Amino acid sequence: MWTDKRAERMINIKCNDRVSIFGRTGSGKTYFIIYFLLKYLKRQYRTVFFDIKDEVKGQIDYDIKITNISELDNYFITNQKKDLILFIPKTTDVDEFNDFCKIIYKQGDIIVIIDEVSYYATQFKIESWHRELIVRGRSRNIGLVQVSQRPRGISNYIISETNHFILYQLVLKNDIDKLSTMIPMDILNQVYTLTDYKYLYYNIYGNFLINDAIIK
Ligand SMILES: Nc1ncnc2c1ncn2[C@@H]1O[C@H](COP(=O)(O)OP(=O)(O)OP(=O)(O)O)[C@@H](O)[C@H]1O
Ligand SMILES: [Mg+2]
Repeated sequence: MWTDKRAERMINIKCNDRVSIFGRTGSGKTYFIIYFLLKYLKRQYRTVFFDIKDEVKGQIDYDIKITNISELDNYFITNQKKDLILFIPKTTDVDEFNDFCKIIYKQGDIIVIIDEVSYYATQFKIESWHRELIVRGRSRNIGLVQVSQRPRGISNYIISETNHFILYQLVLKNDIDKLSTMIPMDILNQVYTLTDYKYLYYNIYGNFLINDAIIK
């Protein structure tokens, strides 16, 4: 799966970590989740993939597909497995998303992958239970993987709590500027030179590498 042994050693994501994946449309973010992250997390941790775009169901080996909050709540009451749950919301309603976050918070011991997080958390507004998940979820052993095309447009809570960054191609300077609060500029500048499907990995312990494209 890895073309680079350094990456295998370095990218060591734990259950309660905060991972952010950024990059322009089509750069490979969702592909990274499907062909690396889910394989890596599989059966190690209970995982929920919140797929607002409903685009991954044919590509991942999930245990159950759930489309509403009460079904998710019931499922948690009756099942405690380390399974992969695919959650596909029927609408982009923010209140439903807030309820989703609340249920996850109460549940604990889980990793949540939120693709297209900018639907719900902008630089101006974040839902209260989403914020709780980000800032207090770690003590409940909740991990978050949050994905967006534009770091500039999303909540500072997401950026400032991240400990692993996966950066695909980004072209706008204000996206880079926003990340410069967390990532040193000499490392960040390398994002401009990334070719197709390559990514820059950086963690807050100061480790970084440019990795080749993921191979299925
Ligand atoms: N490592 C890779 N090797 C080969 N093809 C890839 C790779 N990564 C992505 N692709 C191809 O590029 C297409 C777009 O990738 P992906 O859906 O992951 O983009 P994205 O960053 O999630 O875009 P969006 O922000 O629009 O959701 C995929 O359909 C896939 O075929
Ligand atoms: Mg995507």
